[in-house]
Amino acid sequence: MDSIRIRGGRPLAGEIPISGAKNAALPLMAAALLCQGPLILENVPRLADIRTMASLLAQHGLNVERQGPEGRRLVLGGRITSTEAPYDIVRKMRASVLVLGPLLARTGEARVSLPGGCAIGTRPVDIHLKGLQELGAEVRLEQGYIHARVAGRLRGAQIVLPFASVGATENLLMAATLAEGRTEIANAAREPEIGDLATCLNRMGARIEGIGTDRLVIEGVRELSGARHAIIPDRIEAGTYACAAAITGGEVRLRGARLEHIAALARALGDAGVEVMEEAEGILVRRAGKLKGVDVMTEPYPGFPTDMQAQFMALMSVAEGAAMVTETIFENRFMHVPELNRMGARINVHRASAIVRGVKQLCGAPVMATDLRASVSLVLAGLAAKGETIVHRVYHLDRGYEVLEQKLAACGADIERISGSA
Ligand code: EPZ
Repeated sequence: MDSIRIRGGRPLAGEIPISGAKNAALPLMAAALLCQGPLILENVPRLADIRTMASLLAQHGLNVERQGPEGRRLVLGGRITSTEAPYDIVRKMRASVLVLGPLLARTGEARVSLPGGCAIGTRPVDIHLKGLQELGAEVRLEQGYIHARVAGRLRGAQIVLPFASVGATENLLMAATLAEGRTEIANAAREPEIGDLATCLNRMGARIEGIGTDRLVIEGVRELSGARHAIIPDRIEAGTYACAAAITGGEVRLRGARLEHIAALARALGDAGVEVMEEAEGILVRRAGKLKGVDVMTEPYPGFPTDMQAQFMALMSVAEGAAMVTETIFENRFMHVPELNRMGARINVHRASAIVRGVKQLCGAPVMATDLRASVSLVLAGLAAKGETIVHRVYHLDRGYEVLEQKLAACGADIERISGSA
């Protein structure tokens, strides 16, 4: 298994190109099940999770082809030959559950393995299932699988989500595009990735209104066609490198990043003493002065993203004063805390909040984490720490960060991947 070695203490300087958003690409790929195709997606990141979704779609019978410079164009299309999403693929990646709505809407049935819990929380899919039932599906759970069925088409409905779940909004939005009549999804999640999905669905012939708001109105159509769509830049990747610039006291241009997508993070960084400026081609992040402790609480978009909580906590671990970091989205997303503490951080967790008392300097150590964002928070800590940090289980990072070590090394970080079990 690969690991990453970092020798900390160098301020980052330079430019980092921001890749297409993983969490936009995954539902967009699932949307290919809604049409005969071809659905042509541009700016697709080269990540392990994208390969997993590609193999799931291939298992359903779709043709998935990488084209273009660096293979950033995906061409998807073909006939659905299987409506089963097997445990072996779903257990690798929870976002596999996003095929449920499209398969059901297009073919009238789907058999998708229940994802089960994961490192950051129990993560049930009850909101997805209840919404599909409201659209007229019959849903049964049997032997670890969700069996969903509908005779004829799904029927439009008024759906009020009990929580603005990102995945449930995406699943129901996709399903409703082919339903008979009008669907309204109230308390819908408003993440930019959902806006990107809805925009692409409209290009495919769907009739969705209210994009970007918490009330999506979908007028069902009989069929969708192929389309071409470029995926939005990854706001979490951009936010992560913004924290990297900040923690090292450097200056980095995030090419292609959009400030409007990271407004809550930019506000918190500003309060902490980091300059974040919009430029013609992206965002400039710079820290010259001291870092100050700032409290943050994760919330659905446009609030502070849970996917930035671990990275921001790494930053706060070297700020002056204390910071309270509260996690409201997932019940178990503090797995990075003991690892950061091993690097000399002073963080105490009480229920959903972590008190971070800033220290002057972190110290390098061998560390490992259990999920993607926790792992990258340890990389950030390593960039600022004295001495050597080795981050194990790099496969977590490969799920969501494209050539992370190359992007950081190009800005002067002393970072390298060590192959094998070293
Ligand atoms: C998406 O996950 C993202 N994944 C996550 O990113 C992100 O952390 C999360 O949204 C929140 O922003 C993708 O987009 C592929 P949710 P999702 O449904 O859709 C509870 C990363 O690091 N819930 O909004 O699974 C759930 O347990 C990943 O890139 C139910 O109770 O998130 C959680 O506590 C990690 N029942 C909360 O809602 C349901 O039916 C938010 O989950 C659905 C969700």
